[in-house]
Amino acid sequence: MAEASVLEKLVSLCKRRGFIYPGSEIYGGLQGTWDYGPLGCELLRNVRNAWWHDNVTTREDVVGLDAAILMHRTVWQASGHEEAFTDPLIDCKACKARFRADQIDESQCPRKPSKKPGEHSECQLTEARKFNLMFKTYVGPVEESAAQTYLRPETAQGIFVNFKNVCDSTRIKVPFGIAQVGKSFRNEITPKQFIFRSREFEQMEIEFFCKPDTSQEWYAKWRDERFNWYKELGLAGANLRLREHGKEELAFYSIGTSDVEYKFPWGWGELEGIAHRGDYDLTQHQKFSGKDLSYFDDETKERFVPHVIEPSAGATRATLAFLCEAFAEEMVEGEMRTVLRLHPRLAPVKAAVFPLVKKDGMPEKSMAIYKDLQKHFAVFYDEKGAVGRRYRRQDEAGTPFCITVDGQTNQDQTVTVRERDSMKQERVSTDKVLTYLLERLTRGGEA
Ligand code: GAP
Repeated sequence: MAEASVLEKLVSLCKRRGFIYPGSEIYGGLQGTWDYGPLGCELLRNVRNAWWHDNVTTREDVVGLDAAILMHRTVWQASGHEEAFTDPLIDCKACKARFRADQIDESQCPRKPSKKPGEHSECQLTEARKFNLMFKTYVGPVEESAAQTYLRPETAQGIFVNFKNVCDSTRIKVPFGIAQVGKSFRNEITPKQFIFRSREFEQMEIEFFCKPDTSQEWYAKWRDERFNWYKELGLAGANLRLREHGKEELAFYSIGTSDVEYKFPWGWGELEGIAHRGDYDLTQHQKFSGKDLSYFDDETKERFVPHVIEPSAGATRATLAFLCEAFAEEMVEGEMRTVLRLHPRLAPVKAAVFPLVKKDGMPEKSMAIYKDLQKHFAVFYDEKGAVGRRYRRQDEAGTPFCITVDGQTNQDQTVTVRERDSMKQERVSTDKVLTYLLERLTRGGEA
């Protein structure tokens, strides 16, 4: 399969099967925005839930937070975003296209796509200028500068400004982390590669606060744990790497940063950054708010500003990586089968239930199994068309198991359970179907 076409096929499958649609499509679309359909919102929810389960629910040293998207403007001055969250922008006066100066070599001239911007005789490129990526907005009815703030470009700052609240309202002690999942907004100059770089997207971030002299150890732990998380959820080792930033790539306050990168159909791209941010953020917020954000260690009787390790992931970007990895086309008995080999924890629907035919009590029996399974996880009932077609539809949706009630069910109370990847079928006693599925779906974690 040509590499370039994998993304096109995936985009088309996502639209056709209700995973992801272009935002505001009936009005011609709004670039950089995407809507998650019935299967897509289940998949995205499962990505979030798997992250939350593995990083918050099952850890004693991480707690959750859900901060407001709108925050006081000073937050963004303290964090440095108002001053420095910019990309270098170049305009073409001839065709009105806009490019990121640092990506001009990978961009195409809209008038002649075989050339780079600036190479066509009609191109009139401007000098690069700084463009702030935050979306401006106003709080209250008057659009004046005193009321101005921004849609958050990251969830992290909501965590820093609540550090003291969490310390004061819980019994948690350093070292500990605060986790948050939620929407972030960036007015990207060139949103691209499907949902990879969007203007509205979702992040899953942890700020892990620790004693300065233990911070290198925590940095190494989080790097390994976060890398392994993607592997356990099905990203192949060969398509995954951990890349330590060179000194020249680091922000001035950062002691170290590593990126978990995935090999997308167009090349390597960042899934998550794990950054050692020192005491930069808490110190900045102390300075701008005038509030003491230091921590007093009861045991050692020391007071210090904690150092922070930040594993910062994109939920929507991870969803794209899981989709790319899962997507496969293969010839089966002379026919092309499209299948999404999603990890069972991520699959939007865990099982589909079919009557082989619409008679002899098969629909009723199937419906009873469907209703029973529905109490435990997402299931789908389908009685339309040939059973082979129904299997194919579930393969495309990434459903790990299909259960078919057939003529034999009435005689021996068994059904056929077909597994998505191997397409192998086995007969399972009707009263054991739930246990059978639960065991397979929860292998390695929660369904
Ligand atoms: N608090 C640190 C921070 O926000 P970042 O590298 O700018 O760091 C973290 O973003 C993650 O958020 C990225 O690794 C990526 O997965 C995701 N992300 C960033 N910008 C994105 C965009 N425009 N569209 C989709 N995901 C994005």
